[in-house]
Order: sequence, then C-alpha cells, then structure tokens
Amino acid sequence: MTTLEKDKKYLIQCYTTDDLVFVKGKGMYLYDETGKSYLDFSGQFSACTLGHGNEELAEALRAQLEKIVSVTSCFATEERAALAEKMVEISPEGLDKVMFGCTGSDANEFALKLAKYYRGGGRIISFRRGFHGSTAGAAAATGKSEMIQEHSAISELLPRGFVHSAPPYCYHCDFGKEPKSCGMQCLKYLEQTMLHEGGDRIAAVISEPIFAAGGVIVPPEGFWKGVRKLCDKYGALLIFDEVVTGIGQTGTMFACQYEEVTPDILVTGKGLTGGYVPGSAVLCRKEIGEAMDQINLHGHTHSCYPMTCRSALKNLEIIERDGLVDNSSATGAYLHQKLNELKEKYDVIKDVRGRGLLQGFEIEGDGREDKYALGQKLYEEMLKNGLITELESRRNLENVVVVMHPALITSRENVDEAVEIIDKSLQSCLK
Ligand SMILES: Cc1ncc(COP(=O)(O)O)c(C=O)c1O
Repeated sequence: MTTLEKDKKYLIQCYTTDDLVFVKGKGMYLYDETGKSYLDFSGQFSACTLGHGNEELAEALRAQLEKIVSVTSCFATEERAALAEKMVEISPEGLDKVMFGCTGSDANEFALKLAKYYRGGGRIISFRRGFHGSTAGAAAATGKSEMIQEHSAISELLPRGFVHSAPPYCYHCDFGKEPKSCGMQCLKYLEQTMLHEGGDRIAAVISEPIFAAGGVIVPPEGFWKGVRKLCDKYGALLIFDEVVTGIGQTGTMFACQYEEVTPDILVTGKGLTGGYVPGSAVLCRKEIGEAMDQINLHGHTHSCYPMTCRSALKNLEIIERDGLVDNSSATGAYLHQKLNELKEKYDVIKDVRGRGLLQGFEIEGDGREDKYALGQKLYEEMLKNGLITELESRRNLENVVVVMHPALITSRENVDEAVEIIDKSLQSCLK
C-alpha cells in the first residue's frame, strides 16, 4: 500500500483534503515523495514561523529531550518560569500573568473561562466570520459556520451563551454600506448587541484583531479603539485571539500593538513554538489571573511541558535576534504591493488585504465561471505549480479568498517566486 492509500484507509478523513504526501521540509519549502518542492505560503496554518528544518531549533529540542521532558503543570520548571517571564516581557504593558496550553482552541477555552469566572458569568460576544477553534467553547465563539455549527447532531455539543455580532468586513458589509460613509455601522451594531445581550453583564467580547481564516478581514482604522471603549463602558473584558496574528505574523509582535489597543486577555498559539511542538499561551491582567489562582479548574497534562516552553523560548530568541518581526512587516508590505500589481492585471482579483506576512486576496467570478469554481481551480493550479496557500471559500458566506501566512523568514525572492506562480496559475485558469 502507498502512504496515501494507507492514510486513506486508516485515518478519519475529516481534515485531509489534498492528495499529497510530504516527506521533508527545509526552509520555505516542503518536498513530496517524488522530490518535488512546494513553496510554503501557508506556513502550515501560520505555525511554522522559522520555516522548516531549522537546525538551531531542532538542536535546542534535542538538548531538551535529554535534559527533561515530562513534567505536568503541577510542578515548576526552569523552562516554564523563563517562558512565563518572556511572554510578559514581549506582550503589551498591563498583561502580567500567563498560562500555557497545547493548542489555540484550548487556550481560547481557558480565556473564556477566565472571563466568565472574573465577570461572574454573562454572555460572550464574538463576530460572524471569526474563527476560534474546534473545541466546544472555541467553536461556539466561532462565527464561520463550520461543520460543528451546521450539523444538527454535532451542534448539540455547543455551549449556550454565545452571540455573534456583525463583522467589520468592508468588502462585504453586512449593512450594504460603503466605508467612507458608513459611520462604522458594525461598531454601532456591536453596542446594540451588547445592550440586548446583557449590557453591563456581558462577560467578554472575543475576536481576532485581523480575521485570518475568515478571509483576512482587516477592520477599518479606529474599529478596535471603538470596541475597547465599548468594553470599558459596559465592563466587558476584551479578548484578542492572536493565535494567527501573534508572534510577528502581522509585522508587530502582536497585532494589538499595531492597533495600540490592549486587551484584557490575549491568546496566542501556533507560531509561539515555531510549530515544531504544540503549544499556546494565554496572557491577562494581573487581577484576572490572580482571581483564577483561587480555584483549581484548568490545566492539561501537557500544557506546560518543558519541550513546549523550550521550543517557544528558542523560537522567540531567534525571532528577536534575527529581526524577523521587522522582516514580516517589510516583506509583508512587499507581498501586499505585488498582489496589488496582480489586481491591476486581473479583473477577478477584487481586494487585496492584510498586514505583515498575513495577506489575502478576494476573488470574484469572470462571467464564465463562478467565483467558487474559480477559487478552487486556482488553489489547485497553484498547488500543482508548487505553491501552498489556503482557500477560504464558502457559498453560504459568499466569499472566496486566497489566504497566505508564510514563515517570518520569507524573503523578497520567495515573494517574487510566489507571485510568479499565482500569476502563471491565474493565466492558465482564465484561458
Ligand atoms: C484565530 C484562531 N484561533 C484559534 C485557532 C485554533 O487553534 P488550534 O488549531 O491550534 O486549536 C485557530 C486555528 O486555525 C485560529 O485560526
């Protein structure tokens, strides 16, 4: 049996979509069984901050394997204490307590618990098109109509008390307005939602600062400052899910630092460890963390594993030493510019959005083929031509967006290569 046959025979195929087997990774490239290389502009869901096969990170993990590996969250380790200190150092001022997790989803669950406990209950408000993970609470906050929401049997697993507000999605405004004259209707609607759902008894508003999986939705300037004001007005906590946008992906260590808005709780994951071992973290204000100290109600066997902490520490050390956050900002701006040049060339590209190395472009149909078919064809053609991206495409959500969040080591040459492949793939799809 081939690897693919074995995989299809034994693995529950609830995630796998592409018939590709990767056997090796180095730098910006993954290699399949035939030796063909693929430029990784997905960064494997944005987790792979240093690219593939980073020797320094591998060496640090090898040394950690020999030193100490299995210690549960019941005990302190040098690695855990050092990473806790580092996380507080790199995060916005005022976030002084941290807890570690294994995935973005479980970190979001903890953030929700923190908010509910600190506020003594209350609704959680999130945004349509936002994504927060696949465990129950994180999925309930998700506003993207994933399988768990759509399938009537599975949706029974979703907890109650979650409400979705209108997303700040100017290209597809829920109110049919134009950005120049809308007066930020989505912000007004959020206030209405807060008032209707409990007013000063709302537990929290949770969102990604830039909605990544929902189609790289960059809220208009001033939106987050407005949300912060509303949260302060009604006493709700603001949770930023920076599982994708954090750790340099958007050109600042955390996207909220660009926005100059500090949340009460900040969640990060994916790229925190460089993606070589699972790991996530939740940061919060001191008093929120200290309130939670009183009760013993959260932790996973592997949450604070020394391997996770070592991986994150080494990853952050390399990111800082090599100026990779600045690289994300500069190379991301270059990618944005090159995508805009493609937009001039191809009518089907309607909007280019993003910040730093989180970029995406929205597609419409060309009259012969609808946008969903075109998006799928383009995605497959790019993959065939050796470029890995992600496709956000859902008929019920009416958007088709090619999403990219490559590693922070991405160079201008990598961008040129990626854009060349997108160009070539568009040409053949539109023939
Ligand atoms: C913004 C955001 N939050 C949370 C998650 C969940 O992270 P994980 O897949 O590690 O559980 C994701 C995953 O894609 C995400 O994009």
